[in-house]
Amino acid sequence: MNEQNDRPFEAVPELGELHEKAAGSRYRGKYHIQPVTGLLNDPNGFVRYKGLWHLFYQWYPWGAVHGLKHWYHMVSEDLAEWRQSGVFLIPEKEYVYDNDGAFSGTAVPYDGGLGIFYTGNNRDDEGKAHPYTCFATMGENGRAVKAEKPLFGPHPSYTHDQRDPKIVVRDGRNYLILGARRRSDKTGHIIIYSSDKITEGWSFQGELSVPGFEDFGGMWECPSIEHLDGKDLLMFCPQMIELSGRGPSRNHCGYIIGKMDWDSLTFTPESGFDLFDHGFDFYAPQCAGMDSGSLKNGALPFIGWMGLPAADYPTDREDWSGSLSLMREISIRDGKLIQKPLEGLKVLREEKEPEDLSLDRLNPIEPTAEYEIELSGGEFSISFFTDKDGLGGITLSFDPKEQKITLDRSGMKQKYNLHEGFIRKAKTKAAPKSMRVFIDSSTLEIFINEGEMVFSSRVFPTDEEKYLRSIGAVSGRVWRLGRAVQDEAVF
Ligand code: FRU
Repeated sequence: MNEQNDRPFEAVPELGELHEKAAGSRYRGKYHIQPVTGLLNDPNGFVRYKGLWHLFYQWYPWGAVHGLKHWYHMVSEDLAEWRQSGVFLIPEKEYVYDNDGAFSGTAVPYDGGLGIFYTGNNRDDEGKAHPYTCFATMGENGRAVKAEKPLFGPHPSYTHDQRDPKIVVRDGRNYLILGARRRSDKTGHIIIYSSDKITEGWSFQGELSVPGFEDFGGMWECPSIEHLDGKDLLMFCPQMIELSGRGPSRNHCGYIIGKMDWDSLTFTPESGFDLFDHGFDFYAPQCAGMDSGSLKNGALPFIGWMGLPAADYPTDREDWSGSLSLMREISIRDGKLIQKPLEGLKVLREEKEPEDLSLDRLNPIEPTAEYEIELSGGEFSISFFTDKDGLGGITLSFDPKEQKITLDRSGMKQKYNLHEGFIRKAKTKAAPKSMRVFIDSSTLEIFINEGEMVFSSRVFPTDEEKYLRSIGAVSGRVWRLGRAVQDEAVF
């Protein structure tokens, strides 16, 4: 970290100016959570508490860089509309344990209020990093009140990559699961601590055994174990490994469905490792903590960061970067994960009836909209943000011979994040029949076949790139959507 990116939050007019610049950007969304200023990455502490949904994000206030990380706080009544609540966790030199950043974590209501677990990143005088698992509660003023001491420090068998505590409460016992990298062979794993009490008494239980995944990347970031529809869902973001269909990327985000045994700390897979999302930008997702309860239909609320570690985006020039994804609801049906846009997002539709698309010509793209497209069930190709001649854009296509869906962004004029490549491919057993597409200025999220597969990507179209071109679609409709996220200078 250099002098430009280690500046902690302070309420000064400069922040208001940075906010104005970001909020005025042509790439600013209306229904996606984006940073009030500076950089946003992982969603954190997603929980229902005292009748409200709380969601925090990793935040660097002063620019589009991964600088000194804070937590910024958002609240919602219905998961669709969000309002800003200001800075929550500020890393402090004096608190030592998080002097180099308040990294990702999770939250749980307990008898003392709302408990927050996060990784305090400490940097010593020699520049060495030491991760601490820290605890805080939510104070009266809405800011974090940090516990005097961390819950525990780094475990000696793992490198300084030990972070992102996820609280899981099972049968009256509390577990914290963290992503970690072994010192011995540099492989990525999950380590588990447990305690009878939320606020103290945490002890190391061991490494999670996941048969078949002993050597699967060099670090597992943001792990979680959820329970839904009678199954356990192991989620994590493996890094330093290449996976089929993901081009040169070494940052992935996915899950395994199986059975968790908390006594033997073994997760027995009943599926392979699948990606949550086959697009270019999706990482570090969280489910609302299980104690938050599921939605009326039994699904769990789920949201991710539409970004990747070490990535650059065109809005960096405007001193802001990052977006959270659409709120999804996830469930497991016939042993498969289903991800749908939150049902409640329908409140954002501005008209009762959608407008029909004329698929025999180019359609101008609405910048804040939801599209529903029926496909023929065979080959198709749909390009978003083409020019007036139908050329270029970002194209989703299906090849029945290969049984693969391809997302190709090489036709977009603005190129960024070059090291992540331009093509993503996903194998599918059944031809796509339908898609629901959400566009919000610079986000494109495509849900295939009622949530069987999702492709999410940031997009930064120029003035000329504004048409939708389709081959192989049968019919389409569009709804314009309204604003759902407050975008004011709230600190
Ligand atoms: C994932 C991540 C986490 C870490 C956080 C820091 O994107 O690297 O592992 O806690 O971001 O901002």
